[in-house]
Amino acid sequence: MEHRRLGLCVFLFLMFELHDVHGDLSYSIQEEMKRESVIGNIAKDLGFEVGILSIRKARIKTVGSERRYCDISLRSGDLIVSERIDREEQCGEKPSCVLKFELLLESPLELHRVSLQIQDINDNAPSFPTDIIKLEISESADKGARYRVDAAHDEDVGQNGVQSYTLQRNNHFLLNIQTTSAGNKYGELILDKELDREEQQDIKLLLTALDGGSPQRSGTVIINVIVLDANDNAPVFSQAVYEASLPENAVLKTHVITVSATDADEGVNGNVAYGFSRISEKSRKLFSLDRQTGEIFVAGDVDFEEGSTYEMFVQAKDSYGLSSDTKVMISITDVNDNSPVISLLSLTNPVPENVSPGTEVGIINVEDIDSEQNRKVRCFIQENVPFKLIPSIKNYYSLVTTDKLDRELMPHYNITITAIDEGSPPLSSFKTVQVSIADVNDNPPVFEEQSYNAYVSENNKPGHRLCSVKAHDPDWRQNGTVIYSLLPGVLNGAPVSSYLSVNGDSGVIQSVRSFDYEHFRSFKVYVMARDNGSPPLSSNVTVSVFITDVNDNTPQILYPSPEGNSFMTELVPKAAQGGSLVSKVIAVDGDSGQNAWLSYHIIKSTDPGLFKIDLHSGEIRTQRDISDSDNMKQNILVAVKDNGQPSLSATCSMFLLISDNLAEVPELKDMAYEDSSSQLTSYLIIALVSVSTFFLTFIIIILGLRFCRRRKPRLLFDGAVAIPSSYLPPNYADVDGTGTLRSTYNYDAYLTTGSRTSDFKFVTSYNDNTLPTDQTLRKNPTDFEEVFGDLDVSPEVGILAKQIVIPHVCFH
Ligand SMILES: *[C@@H]1O[C@H](CO)[C@@H](O)[C@H](O)[C@H]1NC(C)=O
Ligand SMILES: *[C@@H]1O[C@H](CO)[C@@H](O)[C@H](O)[C@H]1NC(C)=O
Ligand SMILES: *[C@@H]1O[C@H](CO)[C@@H](O)[C@H](O)[C@H]1NC(C)=O
Repeated sequence: MEHRRLGLCVFLFLMFELHDVHGDLSYSIQEEMKRESVIGNIAKDLGFEVGILSIRKARIKTVGSERRYCDISLRSGDLIVSERIDREEQCGEKPSCVLKFELLLESPLELHRVSLQIQDINDNAPSFPTDIIKLEISESADKGARYRVDAAHDEDVGQNGVQSYTLQRNNHFLLNIQTTSAGNKYGELILDKELDREEQQDIKLLLTALDGGSPQRSGTVIINVIVLDANDNAPVFSQAVYEASLPENAVLKTHVITVSATDADEGVNGNVAYGFSRISEKSRKLFSLDRQTGEIFVAGDVDFEEGSTYEMFVQAKDSYGLSSDTKVMISITDVNDNSPVISLLSLTNPVPENVSPGTEVGIINVEDIDSEQNRKVRCFIQENVPFKLIPSIKNYYSLVTTDKLDRELMPHYNITITAIDEGSPPLSSFKTVQVSIADVNDNPPVFEEQSYNAYVSENNKPGHRLCSVKAHDPDWRQNGTVIYSLLPGVLNGAPVSSYLSVNGDSGVIQSVRSFDYEHFRSFKVYVMARDNGSPPLSSNVTVSVFITDVNDNTPQILYPSPEGNSFMTELVPKAAQGGSLVSKVIAVDGDSGQNAWLSYHIIKSTDPGLFKIDLHSGEIRTQRDISDSDNMKQNILVAVKDNGQPSLSATCSMFLLISDNLAEVPELKDMAYEDSSSQLTSYLIIALVSVSTFFLTFIIIILGLRFCRRRKPRLLFDGAVAIPSSYLPPNYADVDGTGTLRSTYNYDAYLTTGSRTSDFKFVTSYNDNTLPTDQTLRKNPTDFEEVFGDLDVSPEVGILAKQIVIPHVCFH
């Protein structure tokens, strides 16, 4: 038998696993067992390892508000008693008493019905409704007359109920035991010897009721027989059984039914009074009986869920105490008066935002303790959330996700569960569950801007704030905490960290060193924003730093050499007319823009009316024709200013010798200022000699090139003259549209304007080796004079020649 049951359980269990049906377990136990008594072993009966029960959160779920009488010991898998079970309280007079509850297992949700049969023990003694039964019997009663005595009642059932009666030995009565159709036993007194009121007016008998339990229990009543003088009829009920139906929750004083008995006697003897002869405590609280009319009224709260049928016996008694009784059965009909009850059995809270759609996050149970249609329940949640309720087994529902979750969009959901029963009108109930979404580091920091530009003036202080970057990460706490850092890299051979630093928290970028515009004008670094998640996510952004120019470079005069360093002398032909180009001041500025826009001014000259300087080109021209009266030696002090704020300037002196022939210069040493030393004078002589020599070479070159022109069209000639790059400062700013020199290392400068054929040109790649080696300079001054004298050179050519020669003299 045990085997078969177990087999069935296992079979049902397998069915459950496959088809989501649930298996039954049934146990049997005596009432009034001590707490912790073992009822059976659930783990064994379900075929589980004991450990599975706690992993799957096995628990007992009672229906409705019922108390929980059993529990599971997760350690041993035993089903144990957790509260005193009184069969009489649970089931009253029902012959069989079964407690039903559910065993719930999670993941996957699994449900088993457990039924527990409660066996009766003989814990109640029989008892009579009253302690004394009054019986009035006429002295004329015949031998053999029967008098029914109210039955004793025992709350136990079956063998433990009332089984027999014994009557104390006496002179007049015998006891006969009768059984009703419902199986209840009662006693009848049978008159064995006629009564004689004159002999004995009052007889007391002791009646004992016995149950069949072991040990046997008993109850007694005293029957007080009063011997009467007259004779009459007992009242008779119109029906043997009265049945009535009453909706639950009927208001007080509602009429339920009327019982009625008639007595054949007349007058006082025919007056009938009604009373409950046997009624349970529960029924007594609910119903009242009008003694006179036999009407039964509602006297308490009638609740279908508390009890659906009530049985009671009503006695009708006439004035002489003759009585009969009838049974009244009241059945209660259900009204939809209970809303469904929603209980949340389990909930994963918070739910990580990266769970896949379809994940079960909770289990919900809905109960309605009404019956039939009234207990059928529909359950759903609102539409606009990414969750849904999937009906599971019986009254259970799984709450599952239907879509991807994103904590950054919605950090929690209020899910309202609605349950509606099918009664009319239907009753509903709501429960709101807040499901929080837990963060997962799924967003990298995002910079506010695509790229950042920072402008800084050169010569800035180290620690100067350049700009700040900002990135946002919508994740939670450390997953959204942004830390900034500089991506490692190399700039001009040095690590980027030696240029800039980034504040990890604020994103403020500061310079680490002072920048020099003339060294570099812009650079780019990468700044990374990383969150603090694990693993961290990051993104990067370029930060371009532009260094702006400051007027920190004074103009640098290339030609002539700045004042005080050397002398330079220009020959001005006597025949020079007004407007002739005499010389040119060449200057550069390491800055750029306005800061490198140079202007030239004569600030002092021997004869202020004779020469003028072009403001922007630096060309020195005669203002008028040279006349014989002009001083041969002219001295000009030129200032070169840039256009910066404040502007910086440099000055240089230029010596001009009005002469057609060096030989005409009588006192060369006078050319020097008063403080010039004799050493300087000798330098000047050497210079003049070199000038002559170079000029001679120049003439030769011109002549030579006239012949070679067609063969070497791209040589220096065509009027172009190269000046070695070594004259130029190492770096020049690239300046657009300011009229000054262009290109950092490579620029062309027109030294003369206005001359048709003989423009000078600086050529970048030029160096001294470019001069053909065979064109060695002749150092003989006479040669120079010869060449110079013989050739009919135009004044302009002469100037050109000198302008090439003199730098060589000065710088070598
Ligand atoms: C959820 O309910 C709480 C309070 O009950 C409220 O503060 C919150 O704003 C609600 N959230 C949403 C998304 O409706
Ligand atoms: C951050 O994200 C990780 C997963 O990427 C998660 O485990 C952690 O709980 C999150 N931290 C917070 C504070 O939410
Ligand atoms: C910077 O980010 C871009 C994409 O945003 C990525 O392609 C590049 O590899 C990153 N650079 C570094 C140095 O991490």
